Parts: sequence; C-alpha cells; structure tokens
Amino acid sequence: MKTVTTSARLRKAVKAARREGKTIGFVPTMGFLHAGHMSLVERARRENDLVVVSIFVNPTQFGPNEDYHAYPRDEKRDLAMLEQAGVDIAFLPAADEMYPKGFSTYVLQEGTLTGTLCGRSRPGHFRGVTTIVAKLFNLVRPDQAYFGQKDAQQVAVIRQMVKDLNFDVRIVDCPIVREPDGLALSSRNTYLDPDQRRDARVISQALFEARAAIESGQRDAAAVRELVRSRIASVPSVMIDYVEVVDADDLTPLQRLRGRVMIAVAVKIGRPRLIDNIQLTVQ
Ligand code: PAF
Repeated sequence: MKTVTTSARLRKAVKAARREGKTIGFVPTMGFLHAGHMSLVERARRENDLVVVSIFVNPTQFGPNEDYHAYPRDEKRDLAMLEQAGVDIAFLPAADEMYPKGFSTYVLQEGTLTGTLCGRSRPGHFRGVTTIVAKLFNLVRPDQAYFGQKDAQQVAVIRQMVKDLNFDVRIVDCPIVREPDGLALSSRNTYLDPDQRRDARVISQALFEARAAIESGQRDAAAVRELVRSRIASVPSVMIDYVEVVDADDLTPLQRLRGRVMIAVAVKIGRPRLIDNIQLTVQ
C-alpha cells in the first residue's frame, strides 16, 4: 500500500493506474476506522482494480462548538487495517494541504436536502462535506465512491451534488453495520462511557420497534414518529435532537407511509451526538 500526503502525489499515482485502464474505487473517511468503514473498503476492493481510501478529519464540516479537535484519531491502526484489507493507496493530507492559505471556494448545495435533519441542527455541516468530497473526487477521479447508509442524508446530498456538477462517478451506498446489540457503528461511539453505551441501545431498539409496527400494518407517519420518540424519551439520559419519518430519496416529511421510507434519528447522550436510521420499502 502506498501512503501519500500530497495532492500532487495522489494525482500522479491514480493517473498511472488510469493509464493502465484500471477502474478506481474510492472510500472517503475521517479515520478511526471500524467495521462499518471496512465494509465499504471490502466492497470497493471486490468491485475495482485500484482502491483509494482517504483519511482526513475535515475541519470545514464541524461547527465552532463541535468535536473537531477531540475527534478520535489513530493513524497507525487505520493504516494497518487498510494494508490488511488490500488497499492500494491511502491518502492522508494535512489540513493545509486541503485548505491552503487563501482557500476561498466552497461547494454550497441549496434546497431541501441540506435544509432538513442534520442540516437544520448543524448549520454549515453539509457545505463542508460537499466541498471536501468535491475536492477529493477531483483528485481521485474515481469510477465508484462508497458511502455508508448511516449517513443517509450525506449520501442524498452527495448524489445530488454529483448530478448537479456532472461528476463522472457512481455513488454506492452500503448497509449500516451494527454492534450485536443493535448500536450502529460510529467512530463517535468511543466517546460513550459505559452507562451511556448501555443507554445508547435504545436508539436502534426504537427504530426496530417502528419497523415491526410498519410490518404489522402501521402506515401513519405521526404514529410511527411518536412511537420512536416516546421509546427513546423513556431513557432520560438520551436527549432527542430529531426523530423524522421521511421519503428516503428526497428526505421530505411523510404523512402516510408508502414507497421508500426512512426513519431518521439524532440524539445526544451527554456530549456525544449520535445518528441512526432505518430504511424500508412500504407497499
Ligand atoms: O462520512 C464521513 O466520514 C465524512 O463526512 C466524509 C464523507 C469523509 C467527508 O469528510
């Protein structure tokens, strides 16, 4: 595995592969890798000749009072995991490589996809995401890029950006990977103390109960939302940011459940903010 830290070297390495006619799969990450990330890497490995993974904790997607400086980092362990998974190129730029002095062009997506759910609670977050992902796409020029469904809104926003700005890349979204007790894997789970970790189980439990209710015939979005909300609220340490029942493609709120439906949740347990969702097709 080649580890590169500059845009120039990354460009050179992928150019050589492209000249040889290799397909390129790309997995952008912020590091502190877990099995969720590795499921994306493994899929990219199966489906492409060359696999590039970036590790970059992107400052522009964190708000002023968020966890940019505290975000967990373990480069050595991450690189060992990527090497083991057969990744070809790991890209680990420094912040001033991606945002050099004078940087002033951002990718701003307007409209409903960025104005709802996490976009409402984290102003500026998606501007940071679209900016860094656009920059990475321009450097790597992947055939396919892999994202986790846990960040379903991010996937929707990136699909829209790819369409709007004519990026020549296929966006592949991959299923959420969960702990045996249901908690969705996240680098931020590491912030949870043992009591918070126990309480965090209620997030997926509430979502699974909602899925069971829908499978038993419930079609009223408000009732499903209330079921999830009250189940989570039964654990006092878990503070709800939002519970929404939306169309899984355009993220608009639903009244009756039909088609591709997503139930999305964001909570805070002490300092850590966690998100999760389930997506299902309702006849
Ligand atoms: O999902 C993430 O880890 C980040 O938002 C991403 C896509 C790597 C951009 O910084």
